[in-house]
Amino acid sequence: MTASRDIACRVRGFGAYTPVDVLTNFDLEKIVETTDEWITTRTGIKQRHRLAEGQNASDAAAEAARLALADAGMEPGEITHVINATCTPDYLCPNTACLIEAKLGIVGAMAFDFNAACSGYVYGLSMARAIVAAQPEARVLLTATEALTRRLNWADRSTCVLFGDGAGASVITADGEGALLEDVRCASDGNLGGLLTIGGGTSTPYAKGDPIGDDFFVQMNGRDVFKHAVRNMAAISQEVLERNGLTTDDVALLIPHQANLRIIEAVGDRLGIPTERVFVNLHEFGNTSAASVPLAIADARAKGVLRPGMRVLLATFGGGFTWGAALLHF
Ligand code: UT7
Repeated sequence: MTASRDIACRVRGFGAYTPVDVLTNFDLEKIVETTDEWITTRTGIKQRHRLAEGQNASDAAAEAARLALADAGMEPGEITHVINATCTPDYLCPNTACLIEAKLGIVGAMAFDFNAACSGYVYGLSMARAIVAAQPEARVLLTATEALTRRLNWADRSTCVLFGDGAGASVITADGEGALLEDVRCASDGNLGGLLTIGGGTSTPYAKGDPIGDDFFVQMNGRDVFKHAVRNMAAISQEVLERNGLTTDDVALLIPHQANLRIIEAVGDRLGIPTERVFVNLHEFGNTSAASVPLAIADARAKGVLRPGMRVLLATFGGGFTWGAALLHF
């Protein structure tokens, strides 16, 4: 066990933002050869939100961050670190965390992005815990924001129906009121990274005037990703429970990454958590990658499903591959 596990880590404020524009499955029927029936039965998704023209991942994150700060009863000027999870940054440089910081009127905080794809928020909890363990006076703003619809190939029906845009945010400190981060564990396997990619990085030597290739967009071997997602989300959840001497009976609510209802049901089955204790909102938002878990937390609180006193298990899986689980006691 690391020393940081002995230091209290409080997740004090939660906020989420989704853009106004909604794309339903019926809208997609007009764009690509698909049906509402296929998307609903194979994924559970009914609609997803899309950023407006000129609105970027940093804008969505700033909106979510304002709500998280208000929820925590804190001012932007109190923040010492802005750590931002995204696999769809506004730019390669400057990092999106700096843009979020500027939009919030924060100057002087440490600000950086990290990419753990859909596992971003849980990875971020782990990093925030390490920061407050090393620096107990730190006030960390964790944002998770995605502009996935900007990197979808609208001619590829196997991917373009799955994803949506959105952002979530939390404020994390060593002290104060808020959900206690009881444990968090993150893992990865880079050997499998090729099964889920978004290009546009420097490995593709684009020259000015070159046409954009399919590699620029989300590409995924859905069946393989599905199998690994179920296996790893269930296994790491079990591991986190066991090392804390807990069972799924001690979990009031499972909030899993919202990628596919069949994945969520399979993880719930493996863990033996009945569906009424599993939070699902992917029918409204689709897969928002890093934003999915904080968006679900904020949504579950707003809907009164997540209440004070509850122990919540978070479970994630994403490109990289990356995966993780965390226990939050509200
Ligand atoms: O966020 C982290 C990672 N992402 C995930 O966790 C996603 C994991 N994977 C999945 O959710 C599922 O694998 C998908 C939803 C992507 C696909 O579901 P599937 O049941 O694995 O379908 P499939 O890829 O095996 O395709 C079945 C059929 C194919 O047709 P044939 O070859 O059987 O004739 C596809 O061409 O469904 C077809 N298909 C579609 N049909 C209508 C694929 N996409 C669509 C579509 N509309 N949008």
